[in-house]
Amino acid sequence: MNEDLDELQNQIQICTKCSLNLSRKRAVPGEGNEKAKIMLVGQCPGDQENEIGRPFVGPAGVLLGRLISGIRLKRRDLWLTNVVRCIPPGRLPHSSEIKTCAPFLLEEIKIIKPKIVCPLGNIALSLLLRKPAQIHQFRGKPIPTHSYFLFPALHPAAALRQSNLMPQVEEDFRNLKAFIDSNPVLEPPPGQESLF
Ligand code: URA
Repeated sequence: MNEDLDELQNQIQICTKCSLNLSRKRAVPGEGNEKAKIMLVGQCPGDQENEIGRPFVGPAGVLLGRLISGIRLKRRDLWLTNVVRCIPPGRLPHSSEIKTCAPFLLEEIKIIKPKIVCPLGNIALSLLLRKPAQIHQFRGKPIPTHSYFLFPALHPAAALRQSNLMPQVEEDFRNLKAFIDSNPVLEPPPGQESLF
C-alpha cells in the first residue's frame, strides 16, 4: 500500500480528536482501490461498520454493492469512504465532529487523486461544496472543481428509509455510469478557488 495512505489509515484507526472515540468500537478508514478514479463518500459508519471497522458493510452497504454491480462496476475498482469515521451513538454526526474529521477525507482525496468524487447525501455534499447544500438540488449533475468532478448522488440509505426514493437512487447511479463512460475532461472553472 502507498505509504501515505497507510499512515492515514493508521491515524484514523487511533484517532481520539473528538469524543466519538469514547463510544466507538472501531474507527472506519476508507477502503478499495488506491488508484481508483471514482471515490464514493458516505456519511459515517453504522452499527456493522463500527463492529467490523470497514465502510459500507451494513444494509446500506449491501444496497450500495447492488447499485455498483448494477452499473457494471466492482466495489474493488472504487474507493469507498466516509466523512466521519466513528459511529455517532444513535444520531447524525454533529457539525463539530464533521469539522474535526474532515481533514482525513481531504487528505484521502489528495492521496488517491480520483477523477470523480461522488458525495452520497447532504453531509458529504455540504462538506465538499464548503456550504450547506441539499442533495435533491444537486443530484445527478457533475460539478467541475480544480482537481476532480463532484458527482452528487442520493445516499442509498435514503431508499432504505423511504422506499419510494429507490428509483431516484438507481437513476443517480445510472447517470454516474453515463458520466464515467462519457470520459469527461476536467476543465476547471476559471477563477474558482482550488478546493484542495
Ligand atoms: N455505512 C457507511 O460506511 N457509510 C454510510 O454513510 C452508511 C453506511
